[in-house]
Amino acid sequence: MLIAGNWKMFKTPSEAASFCRALRESIGDVGNVDVAVCPPYVALANAIAELAGSEISVYAQNVHWAENGAFTGEISTGMLAELGAAGSIVGHSERRQYFGETDETVAKRAKATIDAGMKVIACVGELESERDANETEAVLARQLAPIVSEIGVHERLVIAYEPVWAIGTGKTASPAQAEDAHAFIRSIIDVPILYGGSVKPDNAGELMSQPNVNGALVGGASLDVDSFVSLCAAAAVVA
Ligand code: 13P
Repeated sequence: MLIAGNWKMFKTPSEAASFCRALRESIGDVGNVDVAVCPPYVALANAIAELAGSEISVYAQNVHWAENGAFTGEISTGMLAELGAAGSIVGHSERRQYFGETDETVAKRAKATIDAGMKVIACVGELESERDANETEAVLARQLAPIVSEIGVHERLVIAYEPVWAIGTGKTASPAQAEDAHAFIRSIIDVPILYGGSVKPDNAGELMSQPNVNGALVGGASLDVDSFVSLCAAAAVVA
């Protein structure tokens, strides 16, 4: 089971360093749970340095598919690898909504990261209007198609199911809704599948005990050390 904290655009390099120091001291024994943090680019080096030699890994939040080139504002897999990042998130709904990310560019980012020997957490998920229109499965199938054709099942590929209506809203998918979506995703691509969307220490246990839920991608509740540690501990109970 993987619990990954997506910090989004929170924490400066020095804040990241003190968070990672505290996390390392307080995480304790989380058994079968793999723990990761995903800081902003500028805080990656500090997080990696503070967590060196620990079991906690560090991922970026996005990565470009080209090795280098005229792509202002982008970062390549080679740059992340040299820093010591374990991999990257790609296709987060905030990137799709606000930065023009498409199903195809998400798959290209994912493929390049896998090809660079790193791990990928590729995000999919429907809008509330799509769920209301009974289009959830069609949307997931459409988002997954280029990932399946570019990569397919791979040991370094993880999918995160993040229903957009549950992100940062406190409106968590019910365990049954998450399980249904995860089972559908698994019927398309059988890799570990994380749930994301208002995961908190008090709902993590129930969500993580669904058979097709293999971990969580956590936003808000990953920004505070105590809350992130208790969430990891709750997951460890059912892992
Ligand atoms: P919240 O946990 O804040 O709802 O965010 C979920 C998310 O987007 C993780 O990538």
